[in-house]
Amino acid sequence: MSLQEQLIKERIPQHVAIIMDGNGRWAKQQNKNRVAGHKKGADTVRMIIETAARLEIKHLTLYAFSTENWNRPKLEVEALMALLISSIDKELNTLDKNNIKVNVIGDMDSLPSNVQKKLRTAIERTQRNSGLQVNFALSYSGRWDITSAIQNIVKDSQKQAIDPTSINEDFIQKYLSTHDIPDPELLIRTSGEYRISNFLLWQLAYTEMHFSHKYWPEFTKEDFFDALLKYQQRERRFGKTSEQL
Ligand code: FPP
Repeated sequence: MSLQEQLIKERIPQHVAIIMDGNGRWAKQQNKNRVAGHKKGADTVRMIIETAARLEIKHLTLYAFSTENWNRPKLEVEALMALLISSIDKELNTLDKNNIKVNVIGDMDSLPSNVQKKLRTAIERTQRNSGLQVNFALSYSGRWDITSAIQNIVKDSQKQAIDPTSINEDFIQKYLSTHDIPDPELLIRTSGEYRISNFLLWQLAYTEMHFSHKYWPEFTKEDFFDALLKYQQRERRFGKTSEQL
């Protein structure tokens, strides 16, 4: 039986988050420049979106550009922004036709204005789609997310007093960039690194982790099925014992 056939349809996660890592190292291995690695990485993004949609996953969150990535060489940052624009230009029709909804989490205002404009077009064009929602994490970090939630809570408290005892997890959740998105059941990180790197810090509290040694540009559909299958073989206890489940 193929890996795909072994998947249990009823236990496909609703939300998969991915730290797409290793574009640079893949390029170096191929004697190419880093930008060539990102371009090849964009092909993997396309394949993963298509596969996730076919599997009827509801949410796919992709760490495409972190707050810390602004510190990369200017040329690489510009190339990544240009790649975002060209990918949207190339794929928006296909995304829309396939009922896929585009969303962005992160500090959108810090992105170049032409990138913001493209993203807004993609978000608006696909906002009524009801299939897979792809959340592109751009200029995103988990600490940024929590910090801006706190800023907005304080702002709101200046308009109307907030009773401190009403601040619980649900309350905080409503202020996060993922307020209308369930927490991921599965996080995949490629390239053999075992870190969260300031990704969805709050949201990953109970997420199952899968680390692949493959670099992102060489990550395949089969690798994705393998991650999903391993996830399905785990027992999620949320702090309870096996017997209590
Ligand atoms: C990590 O590889 C990847 C990124 C910083 C960005 C992810 C970008 C893409 C997959 C390209 C296209 C994306 C979209 C949404 C069209 P790295 O550069 O950190 O690799 P390294 O750790 O080997 O240097």
